Amino acid sequence: MASPMLKLNASPLLLQLLRWVCVVVLAASLGTTVVSGRHHSSAASSSSGSTGQSMYLAPSCRSHTASLADFGGVGDGTTSNTAAFRSAVEHLSQYSGDGGAMLYVPAGKWLTGPFNLTSHFTLFLHSDAVILGSQNISEWPVIAPLPSYGRGRDHAGGRYASLIGGSNLTDVVITGNNGTIDGQGAMWWSKFKSSKLKYTRGYLIELMWSDTVFISNVTLLNSPAWNIHPVYSSNVVVQWVTILAPTHSPNTDGINPDSCTNVRIEDCYVVSGDDCVAIKSGWDEYGISYNMPSQHIVVRRLTCVSPTSATIAIGSEMSGGVSDVRAEDIVAVDTESAVRIKTAVGRGAYVRDVFARRMTLTTMKRVFWMTGDYKSHPDDGYDPNAIPVVENISYQDVVATGVYKEAARLEGIDGAPFKGICIANVTAELSKSKKYPWMCTAVEGVSAANVSPAPCEALQQNKDGECPFPTDTLPIDDVAVQQCAYDVPAPAAEAAAAAGPKA
Ligand SMILES: *[C@@H]1O[C@H](CO)[C@@H](O)[C@H](O)[C@H]1NC(C)=O
Ligand SMILES: *[C@@H]1O[C@H](CO)[C@@H](O)[C@H](O)[C@H]1NC(C)=O
Ligand SMILES: *[C@@H]1O[C@H](CO)[C@@H](O)[C@H](O)[C@H]1NC(C)=O
Ligand SMILES: *[C@@H]1O[C@H](CO)[C@@H](O)[C@H](O)[C@H]1NC(C)=O
Ligand SMILES: *[C@@H]1O[C@H](CO)[C@@H](O)[C@H](O)[C@H]1NC(C)=O
Ligand SMILES: *[C@@H]1O[C@H](CO)[C@@H](O)[C@H](O)[C@H]1NC(C)=O
Ligand SMILES: *[C@@H]1O[C@H](CO)[C@@H](O)[C@H](O)[C@H]1NC(C)=O
Repeated sequence: MASPMLKLNASPLLLQLLRWVCVVVLAASLGTTVVSGRHHSSAASSSSGSTGQSMYLAPSCRSHTASLADFGGVGDGTTSNTAAFRSAVEHLSQYSGDGGAMLYVPAGKWLTGPFNLTSHFTLFLHSDAVILGSQNISEWPVIAPLPSYGRGRDHAGGRYASLIGGSNLTDVVITGNNGTIDGQGAMWWSKFKSSKLKYTRGYLIELMWSDTVFISNVTLLNSPAWNIHPVYSSNVVVQWVTILAPTHSPNTDGINPDSCTNVRIEDCYVVSGDDCVAIKSGWDEYGISYNMPSQHIVVRRLTCVSPTSATIAIGSEMSGGVSDVRAEDIVAVDTESAVRIKTAVGRGAYVRDVFARRMTLTTMKRVFWMTGDYKSHPDDGYDPNAIPVVENISYQDVVATGVYKEAARLEGIDGAPFKGICIANVTAELSKSKKYPWMCTAVEGVSAANVSPAPCEALQQNKDGECPFPTDTLPIDDVAVQQCAYDVPAPAAEAAAAAGPKA
């Protein structure tokens, strides 16, 4: 009954109750909120001074705070801070067993190559902090491909590290007062388009094999490719995040949970050149053998602009399986489709129990889109007998206007039709009338009378009332967050002067 996150929280929470005087308990819509904080400078930042207290929400608060400026960081937009970020995290990792640490990124433009985070750690960005991705490719280490993909997504072989990375971590927070992480992707997009890269592009944020990840109140700009990529991870929350990239930038997907369990994506605003959210789980034979699904995923109050892609995509890499995806209160303006399921022979596994409701969609190619022959294989080693199963897919309470292609294109796999499709209460207003507004092959399902235009015959078996939508809550809905107080480190210049040279 208790969520993994609640269990995780129990002991730091008790410690804080014992150690700190200032504890106020509030009720919050997300669960229990506890206000806690230290009123003196932490060990890590004692020499930098402080300019008062501030608050943020996170699953756990930290006992130690340090500023990037304490580690030789220079926020002038041209000096490389790769060494500063890496030594800051390295130094602060000593506190992971002692209440954890927060690295504060002050106002300024902090150019950096990739760096990794540590456990029980918070990266906090001031509202005017901008972390800039290095344009010097030698600063980007090349790392191994993901085991469930067998190769990089752009190229065979390895891939560039992600700007902000981490593996095998517990309790990681990336937050702030809406500070910015700017991947400066234009250089990568142009090299990618002209085939000048030897390795797959890095992502903006990638956490692998991690548990309890909370990303909130940051703006992500111009990622070289995907923006947020939690992979082989569990208990992930992404909330109040703005993601912006040019609508024709290649593969700038917004949030891609990949072989993850218990994920909540809420109140995010995404403008991008690829899917706003894409739920994945590995690619063909590599994904089948790694066998790690994405499941128990909820997406709420997403706003998406993505003229060349989907609001929420499932696949095309889904070879570890995808199940229990819930999407509601979705707004999309200028997209290719609402939910799109993409798969192919060779992927194996399944996509099942996908539920979407309350979607308001303006200007789009097609409302519903399922593709059973997406192709795109990692290599020729895929198993032609690995046929994916797609079943139990429900869409309801949808209003779409300006639909310029069809209401739906639903293409299952011959001999392995997509089954259990349920559609209710949908109005799709086509910008031009079409003879066949629903294009269906190899699909089976039901629809209610209140679907307009009327669905293809394969879905016309009458359905009374609504399609299913789970009524239980997921463990990730019950995550407890605390109101964390921290001492704002002094501005960079003062801090540098006060701190003097660091050992
Ligand atoms: C970050 O972690 C990855 C995966 O463990 C590793 O390959 C990479 O070398 C690390 N990068 C740095 C800068 O430490
Ligand atoms: C690029 O990064 C490499 C590796 O850190 C460094 O040796 C080199 O000086 C950098 N080049 C420039 C132009 O900054
Ligand atoms: C992280 O965990 C994975 C899965 O257990 C393991 O294969 C990998 O070696 C670990 N990586 C590091 C850097 O410890
Ligand atoms: C994070 O964003 C939410 C929603 O906009 C806002 O209520 C909250 O105050 C923000 N938190 C911080 C620390 O800025
Ligand atoms: C955060 O910053 C982005 C980019 O400047 C802006 O579009 C967005 O509205 C801001 N969010 C909040 C809650 O202030
Ligand atoms: C479809 O999902 C609903 C809601 O979770 C569940 O009750 C039902 O058993 C599923 N149907 C099939 C055929 O798996
Ligand atoms: C149909 O969907 C619309 C839009 O979400 C909603 O306002 C309305 O209440 C729904 N009707 C029924 C009968 O559920």
